Amino acid sequence: MSASNVWNGARKRIFMQEVGTRDGLQVEQAFVPTEDKIALVNALSRAGMAKIEVTAFVSPKAIPALRDGEQVLREIDRVEGVVYSALVPNVRGAERAVDACTDEFNLVMSATESHNLANLRMTREQSFNGLVEVAAIARNANAAVNVSLSCAFGCPMEGDVPVQTVLDWCARHVDETGATGITLCDTTGMAYPTQVAELTAAFRARWPGTELTLHFHNTRGMGLANVLAAIDAGADRFDASLGGIGGCPYAPGATGNVCSEEIVHALELMGYDTGVDLAKLVAASKLLPGLIGHDIPSQIVKAGQRLDLHPRPADFDAIRERALAKG
Ligand code: COA
Ligand code: ZN
Repeated sequence: MSASNVWNGARKRIFMQEVGTRDGLQVEQAFVPTEDKIALVNALSRAGMAKIEVTAFVSPKAIPALRDGEQVLREIDRVEGVVYSALVPNVRGAERAVDACTDEFNLVMSATESHNLANLRMTREQSFNGLVEVAAIARNANAAVNVSLSCAFGCPMEGDVPVQTVLDWCARHVDETGATGITLCDTTGMAYPTQVAELTAAFRARWPGTELTLHFHNTRGMGLANVLAAIDAGADRFDASLGGIGGCPYAPGATGNVCSEEIVHALELMGYDTGVDLAKLVAASKLLPGLIGHDIPSQIVKAGQRLDLHPRPADFDAIRERALAKG
């Protein structure tokens, strides 16, 4: 274990936030039955995820897969200490989130105009003004307010996004929306480690008291590298999705989030405390192909954990004898 991951004899805590039931299921063709969604959230709670984004209160025409959000949130078993969150894009979504007793409203808008219009059919300014109202509704209901800023590391339509643009939107949300948490989202896997380190360090320096989450997609294979770069730069909260499923249906070329079990597997090996029971997480992930009707990206489900060993070949003794006979 690296000494840098241990503070005063305790392992450094990294908070894992599951988004598979929202970012994951939103892009699936199959409608996962409500009782299966509830069972999945319950399994994730028991596995020890710190926060679960249970659903999205968006237009059922935009995302039919999550049209049962209220029922799922109402019928899950709420485990003490786990925060149950939902994505909320507008006032109508906020009213639904209040009805469903959502712990945290995850407000969403994009750092770029093109993706905001494609995804939410509003300009950024229109989104922002609506979200100020949404935040007031959340506070009135004693719910926490987090803002997820999509395309913070690059936009599939506009390309690079200036760091200053991202920080300016964060500032408006911290100051005017009153968000106590901000999630910087790499919606289409455009982030790379040195860029992640720079933005994480800049955010941390400016808003040390604001909860910062990093949300990576593994679209170009840089997901885990980005998580490690963010930790080194001061981050301790990550969104990830069971099985590595997910993606924004309104972002060209989007693919799955970083995979929860891959991130937990790597971080625990490195000496971090994720609070997650990996065996329970993997068991939940193995349910996914049956629910969504296709294979999942998870390398841990495919390959097993690092020390899941295999029997030697059936003719191993003969191989050894032949080798020894050669002197
Ligand atoms: N929940 C349920 N229904 C909603 C809703 C919400 N949060 N917001 C709008 N609607 C309904 C309206 O009641 C209206 O219904 P009607 O046609 O039966 O009258 C319809 O959706 C259109 O409403 P409007 O306000 O004109 O919305 P829009 O068509 O401009 O779409 C959003 C705006 C934000 C609602 C929509 O684009 C959306 O839900 N996007 C989410 C996309 C997403 O989740 N992306 C992935 C995650 S980042
Ligand atoms: Zn995402």
